[in-house]
Amino acid sequence: MPELPDGVEAPVDGSLPDISMNKPFSAYVHVPFCQVRCGYCDFNTYTSHELGPGATPGEYDNQLLGEIALAGQVLDGGRPLETIFFGGGTPTYLRAGQLAHILGVLELVFGFEDGAEISTEANPETVDEEYLKTLKEAGFTRVSVGMQSATSHVLATLDRLHTPERVPMVIDWARNAGLSTSLDLIYGTPGESLDDWRHSLSEAISMSPDHISAYGLGIEPGTKMGQQVKRGILPDTDPDDLAAKYEIAEEVLSEAGYSWYEVSNWSKPGHEARHNMAYWRNNNWWGFGPGAHSHINGTRFWNVKHPRAWAERLKNDQSPAAAREILSLQERAEEDIMLGIRLAEGLPDTAGLAGPGEAPGRAELAKRRHKTMTLAHDGLLDPRRLANGRMVLTLKGRLLADTVIRELWD
Ligand SMILES: C[S@@+](CC[C@H](N)C(=O)[O-])C[C@H]1O[C@@H](n2cnc3c(N)ncnc32)[C@H](O)[C@@H]1O
Ligand code: SF4
Repeated sequence: MPELPDGVEAPVDGSLPDISMNKPFSAYVHVPFCQVRCGYCDFNTYTSHELGPGATPGEYDNQLLGEIALAGQVLDGGRPLETIFFGGGTPTYLRAGQLAHILGVLELVFGFEDGAEISTEANPETVDEEYLKTLKEAGFTRVSVGMQSATSHVLATLDRLHTPERVPMVIDWARNAGLSTSLDLIYGTPGESLDDWRHSLSEAISMSPDHISAYGLGIEPGTKMGQQVKRGILPDTDPDDLAAKYEIAEEVLSEAGYSWYEVSNWSKPGHEARHNMAYWRNNNWWGFGPGAHSHINGTRFWNVKHPRAWAERLKNDQSPAAAREILSLQERAEEDIMLGIRLAEGLPDTAGLAGPGEAPGRAELAKRRHKTMTLAHDGLLDPRRLANGRMVLTLKGRLLADTVIRELWD
């Protein structure tokens, strides 16, 4: 699992330097349990035999209440939530009633904006019709299903527990329950051909979800798959294969009426994930649960990773924050660019050049103009959008987003 950044010590009472709530507010709820650990997965999650008493799924909703109450106090009531996202791990490893319980307490403490987007991730084998109906009745509006692939051999390489046939059933149940639907796909798995990938895309489209995310497989050294690659049991991912599959995704999804709105995300019109947008627009959010990250007005903090350590802190009336960093204006501007450039709406061409309310200097403007013109010339920024004062990635730019970010900051 990736290590947390260093940061500086966070106060034990969880207090923050700036609790003005003048930006939209979101909540992320991390559920750190899975039935099995997929070989490629680097997220902060545990199987039940890795955790003993004090960190069981059955007690998790009650433990979370401690952190929700703490956040309510620290933020002096905060403000109504615009988006809430339950992610994992496998949130649907908990009973539907537990998810409803957590949601109810979030509403009690912060309230919800009218039309709040309330999503959960779901592994296909963990939910049925009844489960999804209960979520809808509890106030959930959206479910994001971990399909990953429609090909059995790819699912097997990824250690997934579901069959391809299960996913359309889950999408039907979710839609019938009145939930908005999203599918997660992974491309670039060892052994996946271009035709396998086309097949996964066309199966996903045939279910007509409102939203589709497609991620290039990342192989991290600390995972089972990372070890298999190191020992030569599996081949590493191939950047050319990943790029070709990204281009196929764009072609097939756009033909089917899905538009990209972020490098890895496509949706039908009006179905962009508002929670994702809150991250990319660098709004405020509180991340609840072990290892969860939060961002409130330029202060980033993150919780201790292990579920038992996290629960112990809360039991002792201490903040579970492991550390925090308070970003300088320069760092905040860098982050705004790093996140915002990934969006189809792009950024103003002067983004990050001056602090709030200041005008950029002539020298900085000239330097930025030279860079953006070069990036457009190299086919990474859209020249027509640039002519209208916006930096928006082209298809090639989406494949090389990190290069664009580096160029803009050099
Ligand atoms: C952390 S998972 C949690 C959702 C759920 N447990 C599942 O697996 O379906 C969220 C999504 O991240 C993506 N993901 C996880 N690990 C990945 C990796 N190493 N490379 C690319 N995508 C990954 C998968 O598409 C997955 O659906
Ligand atoms: S089910 Fe999801 S969160 Fe759990 S190990 Fe697999 S990819 Fe990771």
